[in-house]
Amino acid sequence: MIIVKIGGSVFSNKRGKPENFNRAAVRGIAEEIARFYPGKDFVIVHGGGSFGHPQARRYRIRDGLRGCPEIKRIGFTETHRAMLRANDLIVGTFLDEGLPAFPVSTSSVFVTENGEVVRGDVEVLKQLLERRFIPVLFGDVSVDVAKGIDILSGDQIITYLAEVLKPEKIVFLMDVDGIYDRAPGDENARLIRELTAGDVEHLLGSSASAGVDVTGGIGNKLREALKMARFSEVWFVNGLVPGRLSGAIRGDGFGTRIVG
Ligand code: IPE
Repeated sequence: MIIVKIGGSVFSNKRGKPENFNRAAVRGIAEEIARFYPGKDFVIVHGGGSFGHPQARRYRIRDGLRGCPEIKRIGFTETHRAMLRANDLIVGTFLDEGLPAFPVSTSSVFVTENGEVVRGDVEVLKQLLERRFIPVLFGDVSVDVAKGIDILSGDQIITYLAEVLKPEKIVFLMDVDGIYDRAPGDENARLIRELTAGDVEHLLGSSASAGVDVTGGIGNKLREALKMARFSEVWFVNGLVPGRLSGAIRGDGFGTRIVG
């Protein structure tokens, strides 16, 4: 079984208009998956992109229920609804390619503590896989035992799923070619083709001196990848370039491979 994360910046432009959707990019990803399915099983997890993030920011969901709980509760549902709209567009595009994608609402499956999964019920997910469905989960709002409510990112979900489902591979689709040794934009930045778990620890530990951008998105991704690498091979590839996902699935792809 292979888990594919469709990053929010692959299916939408995060700096563009709210809820813009790159259907061509998602169609391309679905076409590539269709080359391997049903020979291989897939679980899809997608991010928030221009759907969930603006709402989550607007209502400060990460701050929990404190402040004005009446408005927070409305914002919790509004953020979830934005994610349901993204999910519906992605599932619809997969169905158009003949893939039996099935939406699984993350916030109905997982409970978090400060944004990390502390409980999850994956029974339905397992049963869907046995019946050859392609479950499609997503970064979502969550019921949080510490803060009341929080955001559960797609990356955190995958860390949890890696441990319980033990996938043969996890592929992160991004809008860049993989992990670089310096901040993106630095003209000397070089793509790292392979990283061991030890290399990742080193990168995270020495980020300041090595000039590596490990704050925010990529830092969190690498930290999670380190946990996932104990159970599975992890790839970071460009989801906007045709063929890169297939290469990662075959194992001879262009991107960054993390081995445990
Ligand atoms: C964010 O999920 C979900 C919400 C904002 C509700 P991710 O953190 O996985 O999203 P991307 O991939 O960065 O957009």
